[in-house]
Amino acid sequence: MIRRFTYGIPFDTEAVLNKPTAENCKLPYFEKQDNILSCSMDENDIVWGLGENVRGMNKRGHTYVSWCSDEFEHSEEKNSLYGAHNFFIIDGYRKLGVFIDCPGRVTFDIGDSEYEKILITIENKDYEIYLIENDSVISIIKEFRKLIGESYIPPKWAFGIGQSRWGYGSEQDLLKVQEGYRKNKLPLDMIYLDIDYMDNFKDFTVDSNKYRDFKTTISKLKEDDIRVIPIIDAGVKVEDGYDVYDEGMKNGYFCKDKDGKEFIVGVWPGKSVLPDFLNKDASKWFGDKYKVLTDMGIEGFWNDMNEPALFYSEKNKQKVFEHLAEYKDTNVGLYANFAMKDAVNFMANNIEDYKSFYHETEKGKICHADIHNLYGYKMTESASNSLKEILGKEKYLLFSRASYIGMHRSSGIWMGDNKSWWSHILLNLKMIPSLNMCGFIYTGADLGGFGSNTTEDLLLRWYALGIFLPLFRNHSCLGTREQEPYQFKALDKFRGILNLRYRLLPYLYESFIASVKNNDMYGSPLGLIWTEDEDARRCEDQLLIGDSIMIAPIYEQNATGRHVYLPEEMKLFRFKGSDVAEEKIMDRGHCYIHIALDEICIFLRKNKKLPLAKEAASVEDIDWNDLTYLE
Ligand code: GLC
Repeated sequence: MIRRFTYGIPFDTEAVLNKPTAENCKLPYFEKQDNILSCSMDENDIVWGLGENVRGMNKRGHTYVSWCSDEFEHSEEKNSLYGAHNFFIIDGYRKLGVFIDCPGRVTFDIGDSEYEKILITIENKDYEIYLIENDSVISIIKEFRKLIGESYIPPKWAFGIGQSRWGYGSEQDLLKVQEGYRKNKLPLDMIYLDIDYMDNFKDFTVDSNKYRDFKTTISKLKEDDIRVIPIIDAGVKVEDGYDVYDEGMKNGYFCKDKDGKEFIVGVWPGKSVLPDFLNKDASKWFGDKYKVLTDMGIEGFWNDMNEPALFYSEKNKQKVFEHLAEYKDTNVGLYANFAMKDAVNFMANNIEDYKSFYHETEKGKICHADIHNLYGYKMTESASNSLKEILGKEKYLLFSRASYIGMHRSSGIWMGDNKSWWSHILLNLKMIPSLNMCGFIYTGADLGGFGSNTTEDLLLRWYALGIFLPLFRNHSCLGTREQEPYQFKALDKFRGILNLRYRLLPYLYESFIASVKNNDMYGSPLGLIWTEDEDARRCEDQLLIGDSIMIAPIYEQNATGRHVYLPEEMKLFRFKGSDVAEEKIMDRGHCYIHIALDEICIFLRKNKKLPLAKEAASVEDIDWNDLTYLE
């Protein structure tokens, strides 16, 4: 049962399309004092959800702040990442789903201040609350997913392998990647372009010094089944004569300050302006710009820096420099040193800046801070609306960094700037279910890690998880160790794992579509299936993928095996390379399994079959009719 409660006059986030009638009665289960909600939890309650966030599948014991943030350090103490996904489920004797539909800042203290209490603080005064009651967590998820509408489905080729790196600048770089994969007989479907392809970081431009003939390069790569996927950033360079800037200025399509002047921020190109995606005309205008690149043969994009990330605002930058000048001839001691550093560090993504610009919406002028969490969502929706028209439904690849529930209908998301840390393999795994609950099914992390230097074993182990997830992309930061699989000695091992991805695609793709169509989980915690089994409920490092297979990847360096929990009898298929090397019935219970660096273990549930395709060089090369079945 879904119940809706409305407070004030909420801005319609369009997270929910068909709203049930709002109730006037008092909110049940919670005590409400102004904008603070509290409810108690039993000692053994689990809290699932909250989408993209650090820490466990069970969110209990930490505070999460729903505020889309450009956060490049995904460590345990962090409270916000790029997405704002305000849906969680209390799973205990009572099963209750809660969705706070509010586009501003919301704080979820899930048993952090008090272990047996949930405290929710909503900063806006206008919002809606949805409560979903049912007898199982999975039924609550299905009801919620039905409420928010069907998730985005990318084209089939988007389930292939993607190679990315901040730094692939030129045509030569692209051809080098193509050669690296093809010569070494590694399958590949996508090469991503980061900001380097643009002319001075200007959206919808291509640097002609780096690409003599971009269109021809794109079409040549496509003949080899490789799609090129460029990045688009939210900020638009301030530059007279640059058509996007000129048109936006002429039509008043950029966000403005309180005096009605364009709000100038700093991003990659330096001084930039922010398209007002809350303004329907501006949004349509920006979305249609993607055609500049689709006309050159592009069929997919990744939208970035759309929290929006701000290095500084022009206004605040001036103040900071004035402040710093005061220290110039003084004795800078401890506190002054802190103050100086803070002044510089707090220039980026400063809350005062988010409070200083406005959107023109159908409901009038709205301060950005009140709808902050919708910015990336609306940018991506604008792209998706246009791409649907230009290329057709299910014909374009699109994923975004920032998101809010509702955006899941338009695109996927990637998990942002993680690091080449072993703990981030596990974080990648843990985020899958909480994102699936909120409708984000096409998702994945930067495999190998974005920041810091990867190692061969880390990449192999990360791939061993990544091959099961919908979005498979190896991406890394400028200046880090090159991490394409062909940079490493263990090429054969990589080849085996990547080939297995393509062999598994019929199962993975079918599971993906089923999870979208049935509002189901793609990657599920064991506790959602084996609901009465306490060991399954507490298991945070294994996933059920689709309804037939369980995975238990290794996420510790130098480990030669791991503990696995089997909630029922299953059959272990040990793959060496892309072939089965061992089959074994495993009893229900706890066990320890050795898994070498070139092995993948798949646990098949009883009475299920796992279809396998033949190896293929690209998704288009897969013969979907020529399948063998493991059972
Ligand atoms: C952001 C993105 C990252 C990208 C970089 C440069 O940090 O999250 O993926 O490589 O910007 O565009």
